Amino acid sequence: MTARRKCGAERGGREGPPLWAALVAVACSKPWSPSEYSEAALVANVGRGFALGAATAAHQIEGGNDNDWSAWEAGAFSSGRAHVKGGDRSGLACDSWNLWERDVGVLRELGLRHYRMSIEWSRLVPVRGGWDEAAAARYRQMFALMRQSGIAPAVTLHHFTLPRWFAERGGWEHPEAVADFADYVARAADQFGDQVDRWITINEPNVYAVLGYMDGKWPPGVQDARRGARVLATLLRAHAEAYATLKARDTRDADGDGVSSEVGIAHHARVFQPGSINPLDHLVAHASDEFFNQAVPEAIATGRIRISVPGTIDIDETYPGLTGAWDFFGLNSYTRDHMRVDLGTPSLSQTYVPDGKPTTDLGWEIYPEGLLELLRRYARYQRPIVILENGIADRSDLQRADYIRLHLLAITRAAREGIPVTGYYHWSLMDNFEWAEGYSGRFGLYAVDFDDPARRRTARDSASVIRSLAGALAGRAASATDE
Ligand code: GAL
Repeated sequence: MTARRKCGAERGGREGPPLWAALVAVACSKPWSPSEYSEAALVANVGRGFALGAATAAHQIEGGNDNDWSAWEAGAFSSGRAHVKGGDRSGLACDSWNLWERDVGVLRELGLRHYRMSIEWSRLVPVRGGWDEAAAARYRQMFALMRQSGIAPAVTLHHFTLPRWFAERGGWEHPEAVADFADYVARAADQFGDQVDRWITINEPNVYAVLGYMDGKWPPGVQDARRGARVLATLLRAHAEAYATLKARDTRDADGDGVSSEVGIAHHARVFQPGSINPLDHLVAHASDEFFNQAVPEAIATGRIRISVPGTIDIDETYPGLTGAWDFFGLNSYTRDHMRVDLGTPSLSQTYVPDGKPTTDLGWEIYPEGLLELLRRYARYQRPIVILENGIADRSDLQRADYIRLHLLAITRAAREGIPVTGYYHWSLMDNFEWAEGYSGRFGLYAVDFDDPARRRTARDSASVIRSLAGALAGRAASATDE
């Protein structure tokens, strides 16, 4: 696998590099090779507390959920096409609701000390104002086993799915949505705060707004950019309230490291590459960048929510509780989009992958340089950056090991530049239900046999890259203790 590297002097600023610099960079680029990755160099360059982990989300692995997504999975678009590729339903998924001990076993086999997972709001709060004690007890058991195994959970509170009652009231558009979410967060903080120190309030609010309310490919299937922008603003307010709630209520330090709660958001970012020197291509790439990559972090950094969809809506409001409401910058990064203007589409643009670029099973470009570009850009917020998701759909496992190496190389280079990257959680621990792609996208370090009622998990060869790095990090930690 090869990819292209920029060699111009670029430090991904808000405006992006000027056109001439972009052209110079492309002209003098040379391939990045996985052989440039060195485990020793990574270990030497990242800080001692570097968190290496794997990630999942409740609806994608647990099975047996009853929420807005399970309802959506049963339906179809007006064209007759099923909402989910191939008509797949999450169903039993990986059956992690029952096989959670095996999942912790998988983490142990990999030598991982960190696991990002989510708790399922619809399970814990099946009716408005309720709380399911049995579900909470199950999560407590999971966290307890992780702690006994030396694994620190990083827990997401909202990873795309909604309780049905919440969705039926109008979801994030209901006036009490933020308060309802804050109530759930308060219960979770009280219930799990002694076991959990790292919290992620909301997963990818930008993805949620775009796919649910603009493209309409996810529930609730709305195609309205105004509503999407407003929902994004609401999610930012919900994040602020969740942040304040967690900081106030989780004052119990689970692992004795002096930190009782570290709270962040998982921000999905992607590089938007203008398809040509046509200024209109630059314009659409820039507008996408502002909306998708910048609006969320700028709002949290400044407390000013500015969301613009050119020609459609401009939101500009301050929300003081948002200012600085993050202890770390959570970054989800997978790919790059090439963009060109297309006046025939509602967004006036089109994304594509040029011929000859390496891609994943889902057709996403493999572009590890993008991770370095994003790390450089987001370093300006002066928060530790934790990569909460990065991974590849690769059923054959022919590309995954190099994909991981190339992205670890990006982290090594960032760390060498002094950028505080403090963690990497690989997406995903195991194959799972990949939203609208159903079971077609296989992201797992472990393969899951979905035809097998026992949902057998089997390590893929590429998992050895993570296992080996986990061993090297543990070795360094042990030698530091000896010193
Ligand atoms: C992210 C999402 C995950 C997972 C991943 C791979 O956007 O948070 O749940 O689906 O993409 O597509």
